[in-house]
Amino acid sequence: MLKYFTSWESHGEALVAFLSGLPAGLLVDLEFVDRELWRRQQGYGRGGRMKIERDTAHILSGVRHGKTIASPIAVLLENRDWKNWQEQLPVETGDTSKHKRVASPRPGHADLAGALKYNFREARYVLERASARESAARVAVGALAKLLLRELGIDVLSHVIAVGKTNVEREISWPEIQARCAKDEVLLNCADPQIEAQMQEEVDKVLRTGDSVGGVFEVVAHNVPPGLGTYVQWDERLDARLAGAVMSLQAVKAVEIGAGVTAAYAPGSAVHDEIGYTSGSKFAGFTRTRNNAGGIEGGVSNGQEIRIRGYLKPISTLRRPLQSVDFATREPVKAAYERSDVCVVPAAGVAAEAMVALTLARCALEKCGGDSMTETLRNYQDYCQQLKNF
Ligand SMILES: Cc1cc2nc3c(=O)[nH]c(=O)nc-3n(C[C@H](O)[C@H](O)[C@H](O)COP(=O)(O)O)c2cc1C
Repeated sequence: MLKYFTSWESHGEALVAFLSGLPAGLLVDLEFVDRELWRRQQGYGRGGRMKIERDTAHILSGVRHGKTIASPIAVLLENRDWKNWQEQLPVETGDTSKHKRVASPRPGHADLAGALKYNFREARYVLERASARESAARVAVGALAKLLLRELGIDVLSHVIAVGKTNVEREISWPEIQARCAKDEVLLNCADPQIEAQMQEEVDKVLRTGDSVGGVFEVVAHNVPPGLGTYVQWDERLDARLAGAVMSLQAVKAVEIGAGVTAAYAPGSAVHDEIGYTSGSKFAGFTRTRNNAGGIEGGVSNGQEIRIRGYLKPISTLRRPLQSVDFATREPVKAAYERSDVCVVPAAGVAAEAMVALTLARCALEKCGGDSMTETLRNYQDYCQQLKNF
């Protein structure tokens, strides 16, 4: 089974991610992994931290001579900012007068709930681990999952469909998303340049007022075969697994698959995707007039593009902070402020691509198995043939 977890603190020495369960013999393109990490760092509205960090993947184990060898993969990402934090956040006891307290919890962040849970008297350690810098580690292992999926012909990308009140009304096609993601300049990763300019104004507005802004990204998985996930157990449903994976990202507060939200307000005839058949077309030849289901029916991929949206709340660290309470005195004070992003919708989309890729790779390996890529690809091609002969 494909398993992964991350280990790090935001201002600690490094981020480390572990991934086990990839078959042996998968080509590892490090340039691709680093580009994914670069993509996560982009976007208009990021804070000063992203100017300091230049994330690159340093693989410690599990890859030799450019290919996976089936042993667990450990990836290390250096934290450049560590040099400024060695005295404030030492592993040893250190000089306690140099510790940097987070004295008043930020509404919307993990500070208060985390301090209460772990019995910390202030929120420094909470901030360090709850911070979404962690998503860089997920992007590193997600890139490896993407490389596996590519061998199966599956690609995963994202684009931004809303920032604040500005949103894209039409469906953005796969080629448009591909073209957008191939570019080397990222403003808000929106495929419509006019709407993107309006999104930029939304960010400018909150930059001026010391506020923050949320939005919506959409992740699209292209060329996914029918048959990933299953309805036979609640926790094996693909929709449930994808929703959990995307929701696990910091600041994502709602997840929608296909036209999930508007479908709730429409009659069945306007929602469900009628079925046709064209001999020789993709997979088993069954076609759809539209894709309101977002590529999943009954918890199983149905051969259409998987489309999943994440709804992001605005960032909770505000330059003009909200009201809070001092941890020590319990007196009313303004919430703590520390260098922060004001808009992260494009970056969250890239992190969500990683989560979607890891979920699909896990499902694909459950379906096809294989200890080596030769075996996995043979099983996958066999399954595709079975679909063709259906
Ligand atoms: C890519 C990304 C970057 C983020 N950057 C910040 C940030 O700079 N400041 C901040 O307060 N929150 C930031 N967040 C959101 C917080 O990490 C998140 O709100 C916090 O951990 C509490 O978790 P919750 O919002 O899921 O409840 C970011 C989220 C993402 C996805």
